Parts: sequence; C-alpha cells; structure tokens
Amino acid sequence: MHITVAGCKGGVGRSTTAIHLACYLSYKGSVVLVDADPNRTTLIWSQRGPHLPFDALDADRSIDFAAYDHSVFDSPLRPTPETLQELAKPEHYLLLVTTPDTFALDALLPTLRTFEAAGATHYGVLLTRCPPAYPEIEARAREALQAFPVFHQVIQQHTAYEKSAQLGVPVYAVKTLDHNALVAWSDYEKVGDELMWRLWH
Ligand SMILES: Nc1ncnc2c1ncn2[C@@H]1O[C@H](COP(=O)(O)OP(=O)(O)OP(=O)(O)O)[C@@H](O)[C@H]1O
Ligand SMILES: [Mg+2]
Repeated sequence: MHITVAGCKGGVGRSTTAIHLACYLSYKGSVVLVDADPNRTTLIWSQRGPHLPFDALDADRSIDFAAYDHSVFDSPLRPTPETLQELAKPEHYLLLVTTPDTFALDALLPTLRTFEAAGATHYGVLLTRCPPAYPEIEARAREALQAFPVFHQVIQQHTAYEKSAQLGVPVYAVKTLDHNALVAWSDYEKVGDELMWRLWH
C-alpha cells in the first residue's frame, strides 16, 4: 500500500502523521517512509533518535519500492494534478491532513472541490491537532467538510508529539515523560485501522 500524506497549509501535522502511520504499518510489514518535503523534517527526525521500525529515505534517492510492503510519503504542500492520477491506482491512498481552524479549512476546500469534480476516490481528510477541551471546533470543521470523506477518528492536540519530535522517537516512546503519550499513539492506531478499512471497502 502507498500512502501519501499531504495538506494545503503548513504546520498542520503532515510530517507527524507520516511518521506515525509508518510506525502503524510497520506492525503489518516492511515500510519505507519517503521524505519529499524540502525541509526534510522526517529524515532529520529519524536521524536524531534511536533505531526505528522502518526505513526513512530521501525522495531524491532511487528507492527500491518492491523491497517494501508499504510506503508512506511525507509530501510537500498542496497536492498537484499528478496526485489525482496517482489516486486512480489501486492500493494508493491520499491522506489530506488539516487542522480544524477556519484558515486551514479555507486553504483545503478548493482542493477538495477539485477532487470531487474529478471524481477522485481513494482519498480522505484527517483532522489533526484538535483541542480536546473545545469539541465545538471539531464539530464546526466537520460541518464545513460534510460533503467530503472525513475520517471519523481525529488526532487530538497533545504536547507529547513535541517531546517525541525533540527526541526523534515515535510518540509512544515518550510514555515515561508524558502521561498522554499512549493516548496520543492510540489516536494514530485508530486512524491506521480506519485507513485500512477505507482502502479495502
Ligand atoms: N496532534 C498534535 N498535537 C500537538 N502538536 C502537534 C500535533 N501534531 C503535530 N504537532 C506539532 O506541530 C508542529 C508541526 O507539525 P508537523 O511538522 O508534523 O506539521 P507539517 O504539516 O509537516 O509542517 P510543515 O509545513 O513545516 O511541513 C510540530 O511542532 C509538531 O510536533
Ligand atoms: Mg512537514
């Protein structure tokens, strides 16, 4: 399976999502996390910490995709028209990541309308960094996105992610430093389960 993680605005959690989906998929088979973002966030992150359960590689390198069961792309910002063609291929899924705030949704909606007009399937929208204390923000975002395939599971805002970024480890590895680390990881596990379900139904 090939998962591309993209978004239409900076800082919405694309790299964090790509990293944790790569972790999730590594329980199911061999995984390569491909960093195609000019900032090389996931590559730098992967070099900071100890051994990871997947390979993290630079998109500019030649990659033997046949050697892996799954690939996850941390892509640069907005999806391109070529992305739409990729979505027609079986086993290819585009995960569009957004925070639930108005500016992020304003940036995302034109892309979603293009996708719907082109009859795209195999894509979904993941709400990230949802503030747990303000469920109405998530509810408003769902209303704005009601015409589109939005994941039921969201990723909530947790400081554990910043700790995991600093240490170059997945969020579950900071469980002794942050009491919400495993709760944060379980959000990504549930997103992974939902992603599998959406891919095969
Ligand atoms: N669910 C979350 N809760 C709290 N902080 C988060 C969450 N997801 C990501 N972050 C933090 O938000 C910041 C931006 O996340 P990330 O780098 O994953 O976003 P991005 O969309 O890839 O950004 P960029 O546009 O720079 O590539 C990072 O500091 C990260 O640790
Ligand atoms: Mg990034």
